[in-house]
Amino acid sequence: MKRSQINYTIDKAHAIAGTLRLCLPDFAFFTADIWRRQELGEWREVLELALGWDITDFGSGDFSHTGLTLLTLRNGKVGSGHYPKTYAEKMLQIQQDQQTPWHFHHHKMEDIVNRGGGDLCMQLAWATPEALYDNKRKVEVSVDGRARTFRPGETLVLKPGQGVCLPPRLYHRFWAEKSFVLGWEISMVNDDTNDNYFLEPGGRFPAIDEDVAAKWLLCSEYARLNQI
Ligand SMILES: [Fe+2]
Repeated sequence: MKRSQINYTIDKAHAIAGTLRLCLPDFAFFTADIWRRQELGEWREVLELALGWDITDFGSGDFSHTGLTLLTLRNGKVGSGHYPKTYAEKMLQIQQDQQTPWHFHHHKMEDIVNRGGGDLCMQLAWATPEALYDNKRKVEVSVDGRARTFRPGETLVLKPGQGVCLPPRLYHRFWAEKSFVLGWEISMVNDDTNDNYFLEPGGRFPAIDEDVAAKWLLCSEYARLNQI
C-alpha cells in the first residue's frame, strides 16, 4: 500500500467515527509526531500489545476491494505475566464491497458484530486438519445466541445489530453490502503475527510504499519510535 493511502484511510476513519459520535481512546489520536513527544514508558502497554491503527490490503494491492481498517482497542499477551488480559476488542471499518479474504485462527475465538450501516455478509467453512477448505462438513454457529446451520461457503447476512461467534479453525470471509459497515470484534487474546492462517497467499500486514511522510504510525510500526 502507498503511505498516502494509509494516511488518507486513517484520516477518513477518524471522520467516520466523528460522524457516528463514536469516541476513541487517546492513543487513536496520536500522529507519528505526537508519538515522538510522548514519554514512551507510560505507553508500554499500547506499544507492546500493538494497540492502535491497523490498515491492511492483505497483500492484494487493491485496498478498495480487499482490505480492512482496524483499530485494536484492547489486548493481552498469553504467558507474558505483564498483560494478563484474556480478551481483545477491535473496531472494524469495512467499506462497501470491501472484503476480508478467507482465513481462520488457530487459537482465537472471536465474535464479529455488525454495529451499523449496511449488511455484513460472511461465508464460513471448516478447516480440515491439513488447513484445507472443508467443502462437506456443515457449519453450526451462534448468531446472537441463536443456533444457525450453514452449508460450507453459504452466505450468512448479519444485519445491523447482529453478530456471530466464530470458533478457532473456522474459515471466514466477510464483506460489506449496500453501504459501509461499522464492525466490532470481541475476542480472545489476539496475536496477528502467529494466529492467522490465510487460504490464499497474501499476508496480514501490507508492504508499504513510502510515497509521502507517515502521518500516522500503524500498530505494527511502533518499533520505529526507538530509532528516533
Ligand atoms: Fe478473523
